[in-house]
Amino acid sequence: MLDQRPVSFSGVQPSGNLTIGNYLGAIKNFPEFSEKYKCFYCVVDQHAITVRQVPAELRRRTYETLALYIACGLDPQKNTLYVQSHVPAHTELAWMLNCFTMFGELSRMTQFKDKSARHADNVNAGLFTYPVLMAADILLYQTDVVPIGSDQKQHVELARNIVDRFNQLYPDTFTMPEPIVPKAGARIMSLAEPTKKMSKSDENENAVVRILDDKDAIIRKFKRAVTDSGSEIRVADDKPGVTNLITIYSCFTGKSVEEIEREFDGVGYGDFKIAVGQACAERLAPVQEEYRRLLADKAYLESVMKNGADEAAYYARKTLSKVRRKLGFVNL
Ligand code: TRP
Repeated sequence: MLDQRPVSFSGVQPSGNLTIGNYLGAIKNFPEFSEKYKCFYCVVDQHAITVRQVPAELRRRTYETLALYIACGLDPQKNTLYVQSHVPAHTELAWMLNCFTMFGELSRMTQFKDKSARHADNVNAGLFTYPVLMAADILLYQTDVVPIGSDQKQHVELARNIVDRFNQLYPDTFTMPEPIVPKAGARIMSLAEPTKKMSKSDENENAVVRILDDKDAIIRKFKRAVTDSGSEIRVADDKPGVTNLITIYSCFTGKSVEEIEREFDGVGYGDFKIAVGQACAERLAPVQEEYRRLLADKAYLESVMKNGADEAAYYARKTLSKVRRKLGFVNL
């Protein structure tokens, strides 16, 4: 029986270094999300090789990413959790979509421009056609919504252009995907520069708190967090540092901003920062414990990958055989 819920597709880079920004902005809402949508979570190991990888590390991070998502509350029984390279339909469709994507369009992608500047010695064709593989990921599952960070919006726009172009020539082939960017409420900012989003690739380790940071590191980072002039603990436009800490504390404790402002009335920044660090460490502890337990159980993780890939392949095959037929390939 096919699922009637709208489809959500997320591509996840294989890196175990997710931040509390990822956690509070997206991952924490997974259970709620999977009530509403049929969700696919795909660890995109094929996207990862557009820049050089150390093979053993890529493999390790693939397991780690899967373990971390499950530890954060993603239920493999209720979601399709799998690894991109286990479902060859992704690259198969990507080839076909390559022939419906224009050189000029790909040249305008800002991520390509950034990455080719950063990896000037390795501007390979995969880096250039990265967004086409991403479009294939999305379109293969007749995806309705794509939860993404704002940096990936341009890529989803490209996927939409491909759908337009393809469906014009071959009507009713692909569903038009909508990007959804998490609401501003859960936007967690850098601890060092609170007007910038917390980014997992920030070079300043003090600016980011990672889901897998230990308690000491978490408290130390919050103690060093940049605050603002004045001494009051309240949300204000001219207090981005304190506002960010209040948001984080609120997300971890479930308390409202008003409650927090009352709780810390007359308390100094120093004590407040320690309280935020403690709340964060406390909430992450069970996630970290579950993560370590899962990571020690490779057989279980592999069974999740296997089941996920089987299920994904089932959906992918339907789309692929339709596309093959439309394009004029002989289906045997
Ligand atoms: N490019 C995305 C990123 O860097 C990862 C990704 C790959 C993705 N395929 C996707 C995201 C499909 C959403 C949908 O974060």
